Amino acid sequence: MTLTVSAPATVHLPSHRPELHADDARAARPSAPLLVRALRGEPTPRPPVWLMRQAGRYLPGYRALRSQATFLEMCRHPAVAAEVTLEPVRRFGVDAAIVFSDILIPLAAMGMPLVFEEGGGPRLTKPLRDARSVDALRGFCPRRSTSSILDAISLVRASLPEDVPVIGFAGAPFTLATYAVEGRTTKDLVHVKALLRRDPRTMKQLVARLALSTVPYLVEQARAGARALQVFDTWAGALSREDWEEFALPGLRTVFGGVRNELGDACPPLVLYSKGTSAWLELLPRTGADAFSVDWRLPLGAAKELLGGCPVQGNLDPTTLFAPLDVVRAETRRMLDSVRGETGVVANLGHGVLVGTPPEAVQAFVDEVKAS
Ligand code: CP3
Repeated sequence: MTLTVSAPATVHLPSHRPELHADDARAARPSAPLLVRALRGEPTPRPPVWLMRQAGRYLPGYRALRSQATFLEMCRHPAVAAEVTLEPVRRFGVDAAIVFSDILIPLAAMGMPLVFEEGGGPRLTKPLRDARSVDALRGFCPRRSTSSILDAISLVRASLPEDVPVIGFAGAPFTLATYAVEGRTTKDLVHVKALLRRDPRTMKQLVARLALSTVPYLVEQARAGARALQVFDTWAGALSREDWEEFALPGLRTVFGGVRNELGDACPPLVLYSKGTSAWLELLPRTGADAFSVDWRLPLGAAKELLGGCPVQGNLDPTTLFAPLDVVRAETRRMLDSVRGETGVVANLGHGVLVGTPPEAVQAFVDEVKAS
């Protein structure tokens, strides 16, 4: 494989820092980036904006690099991963970068063979279906097994101005478990739910083991320069409320509690993306996350209320970006209107940018938030 990519150039972006009055006590010290302040629930002059899956196949720069390498090869080369991470920041002026990687990389580091099939999505070729295969999962040392991601974070951090932070991420234990057991994306999670009913103890052990491995993985991302950490629980909504409490919540508590404990005062804001869980949104603060990224099923303001006023991130339906640009702008305004005047708001989508999304629609979304 010959990838032609140079080290990422430093990006000079206009500062988003608000104008501070001379008598403002905070004027003396540089304030944290907009994203970090919003995720902590502190006031910001406008909501910061970024998009889940902001780097990907809808962007020409990504497609050009992707035509020379497989997805996993791109992830393994820090300069390539950094370049892909920076493309949407340079192009759209979003307020954060999210390191280019995938939630399934740690499963490979734990001993599960992983392939990304052309057009077919990820596949773990030896799915776990019983206690013995769960026992065989090994822990991993992030600095040894996933050093390219940590190096990519450091590279991106060094290429961006201080006010555009890098976000690190991991899969939520239950969502990782769905891939470990199903082996690929499935609609009904038949194998996961069969295991959960047949052998709940093994299911809990799997979730616990994945949670314990996720703690050092996120900790090392923060040490490499990530200024926020997001945990993706894409499949949480496949569970009932009771099953979520029993099988998903303990793993999330281990992850957030473990990271916070390890990093102490240096812990960046911890964000939980939880999809399809509007029916028990009020339980989410029990996970120990600082902020919650929600899907589009409720107005953002209603979600914030159910979450007890915690900082929220979201939640435009990603398919809205296929609408005419004036509709994109109007829907973005509608979303922001539902949280008007509140602190602790980050503008984002309710799920990742879809393949085929027009980049102009992403720009319209970003510009509309920045004008708010
Ligand atoms: O957000 C970003 O820009 C950072 C990178 C990122 C990717 N995946 C890159 C990627 C992040 C944060 C993820 C998270 C992820 N990966 C999740 C959780 C969030 C979500 O979208 O639900 C999940 C469930 C996965 C697993 C995964 N990876 C699937 C199901 C697929 C196939 C679907 C698809 O979009 O192709 C992937 C592949 C993947 N991950 C691609 C990218 C850019 C496409 C790879 C390619 O070029 O072929």
